[in-house]
Amino acid sequence: MSAYLEENKARFLEELLTLLRIPSVSADPDFSDELAKTAKFIADKLTEAGADKVEIMETKGFPIVYGEKIINPNLPTVLVYGHYDVQPPDPLDLWNSPPFEPVIKKTDLHPEGAIFARGACDDKGQMYMHVKAFEMMIKEDRLTCNVKFMLEGEEEVGSENLGPFCRKYAEKLACDVVLISDTSIISNDVPSITTGLRGLSYLEVEVTGANRDLHSGVYGGAVANPINVLSEMIASLKDENNSISIPGFYDDVQIISAEERQKMNEAPFNLEAYKSDLEINDIEGESGYTTLERTSIRPTLDVNGIWGGYIGEGAKTVLPSKAFAKISMRLVPNQDPDKITKLFTEYFKQIAPKSVQVVVTPHHGGQAAVTPTNTPEYQAASLAMQSTFGKEPIPQRSGGSIPIVALFEEVFGVKSVLMGFGLDSDAIHSPNEHFGLFNYYKGIETIPYFFENYAKLKV
Ligand code: BES
Ligand code: MN
Ligand code: MN
Repeated sequence: MSAYLEENKARFLEELLTLLRIPSVSADPDFSDELAKTAKFIADKLTEAGADKVEIMETKGFPIVYGEKIINPNLPTVLVYGHYDVQPPDPLDLWNSPPFEPVIKKTDLHPEGAIFARGACDDKGQMYMHVKAFEMMIKEDRLTCNVKFMLEGEEEVGSENLGPFCRKYAEKLACDVVLISDTSIISNDVPSITTGLRGLSYLEVEVTGANRDLHSGVYGGAVANPINVLSEMIASLKDENNSISIPGFYDDVQIISAEERQKMNEAPFNLEAYKSDLEINDIEGESGYTTLERTSIRPTLDVNGIWGGYIGEGAKTVLPSKAFAKISMRLVPNQDPDKITKLFTEYFKQIAPKSVQVVVTPHHGGQAAVTPTNTPEYQAASLAMQSTFGKEPIPQRSGGSIPIVALFEEVFGVKSVLMGFGLDSDAIHSPNEHFGLFNYYKGIETIPYFFENYAKLKV
């Protein structure tokens, strides 16, 4: 570890804890002042670290923090992207400590301690590693590339305003590569680099029966119950092999060669540990695919929430008028989110019995992304991790989505490097989210090596 990092470890941690105390929940408009505060905190830290032209740039939604250090126009430029917004902390009663009052506790996978707070791993902790690595490169005089920071506050709600922002400021944001830490590694002793992200189609359905709630004795058995109907409709979206039944759903799915699949399955994965971590007796998924394949190269369909009828104390004999569900489909390369949304909508309406009416409302979506490994940027990341972990990282596709990555390629014409440092078990989006201290410092230590390698490899 560099002397500068060693000397400043305690402060780097304190600053992150301060950042984590600001509840930057982008899904809830009541928190907009908190998002503004978070943007200001990060902008100030970028300035203190030595960035120029630091700006809090307004959008129709939450602001984007920009900052840059151009040391020599002939050197390559790295655009660092991250997000300072977080998921809502609900359900609050399942947290062992309040989500915005970070505490450090040891866990089995983090014997050196982990920071427990909403956003610790996704993505404030990982985003802030870049701010501190930048400070370190400036202070140690080892910055070898130009840097631009673009840190947004709307990733968790679909990055609606980031696309237009990138197009509008394409020139200002021009770069050779986008560097992102918002994904995970296999474990603290098995480093990996994310080479793929899934796309997404997210929508909401509303099923209506009678024009009002009815007495379930007087009308029950004679009038459609929208909750029963919705349940059957959802059940019919998959067959007995857990294959999605929507006609045309798989048409564009990229076929992965047997060779590549074999390689993919050589990555360390312990099914027993996986099951015991989740306290499940068995896994389930699409027939013919392994767990690693099911969570990376295959598309999925999941209900994220379902509601309707009476859910209060005790019993109420009611035949509800409406039922609702939020449904997401994770997509793989070549599947077009708009096309999938359309296929879903047509099929869902088609399978609805005449006794109900169905409304489907699309939410956000995004394209999948894959990144090649035979590029200077991948190599720079791979060698960087090799220097700090002492092992060559394994390329691995992830099941999660960062829809804006596909757009970076379209607008800037460059690839992204997904060099994340979280663990899948860090409970992102879940109660008791955490981020290992080992991971935080390892990230700060590794990032400067990326810059160093990239300056050498990029010609
Ligand atoms: N950082 C995650 C995505 C992620 C997590 C990728 C773990 C790989 C491994 C990101 O913040 C996220 O949660 N994305 C959303 C999509 C967005 C449109 C709300 C997702 O994947 O659900
Ligand atoms: Mn994230
Ligand atoms: Mn997230």
